[in-house]
Amino acid sequence: MSTQGFRIVITGKGGVGKTTITSLLSHLFAGRGYSVLAVDEDPQMNLPYAIGVSPEDAESIVPLSKNLDYIEEKTGARPDSGYGLMFSLNPDVSDVVERFGMKGPNGVNILVMGTVVKAATGCLCPENTLLDAVMRHINLREGEIILMDTQAGVEHFGRAIAKGFNQAILVADPTFNAVQVVKHAAELARELEIRDIHLVINRVRSPGDITKVTRMLAGHEELFSGKYYIPYDEMMSLFDPDVRPILDEPSEFVDGVRELMMSLEMHGLLRA
Ligand SMILES: Nc1ncnc2c1ncn2[C@@H]1O[C@H](COP(=O)(O)OP(=O)(O)OP(=O)(O)O)[C@@H](O)[C@H]1O
Ligand SMILES: [Mg+2]
Repeated sequence: MSTQGFRIVITGKGGVGKTTITSLLSHLFAGRGYSVLAVDEDPQMNLPYAIGVSPEDAESIVPLSKNLDYIEEKTGARPDSGYGLMFSLNPDVSDVVERFGMKGPNGVNILVMGTVVKAATGCLCPENTLLDAVMRHINLREGEIILMDTQAGVEHFGRAIAKGFNQAILVADPTFNAVQVVKHAAELARELEIRDIHLVINRVRSPGDITKVTRMLAGHEELFSGKYYIPYDEMMSLFDPDVRPILDEPSEFVDGVRELMMSLEMHGLLRA
């Protein structure tokens, strides 16, 4: 696996702001000259809209999972017989994007995985196994960044998909349940040997929120490389789902995400 480029996975409880933050980071990194591949691992597939793809264009996206026949033809791998050949494929980002992805606004590349949802945890569906293999073995060059937005919860951390990511962003809002989820996710991320685990507390409305979260995190701080408190911004609901307009407004929310971006870049460069 290449040590170049950054692989960043975003996770957390439902509705805490994962997709919004992934989209803003995609635009901010693209604006800094990086080649960004934003990957939607959520079966809901709402990342393209947040990045600013029009509904008409979004409709034409074919998820990677629906391209199984094509991948099978190229790799010789069959869904019922493992993916040995896939492991030696090492597809380039540009190759994967060209075949399965789309170019979104600001040159942000978008890949929709089309993850298969199963009721039980630890799904070993062949489609998901193949998706995991693509993500783990994709060749990343200097200046290329993968940002993967995931479905709510930590189930996918039990899958191989998060393996091979060097940084994780765990997002919570200032609620007990969301903080519980990030604590659990941090432990899983550690087990997966994800080097840098950044905690984002989004939608902070008051200093009281910070005090509350600090209390809930007591004894767990060492799990995180950094902690970011990002304020609630009512402008977000005006623009929803497209995050781009807020980038042109004075916003403490965007400032907070920008600070996160700088830290991700620093960690990525230091460890490359
Ligand atoms: N800091 C913020 N201030 C105000 N609204 C926000 C903020 N962050 C996100 N939102 C809003 O919260 C809603 C949920 O955000 P988002 O879809 O990014 O969450 P999610 O974690 O991806 O949800 P899901 O688990 O359903 O995928 C959106 O309407 C978004 O605009
Ligand atoms: Mg989402």
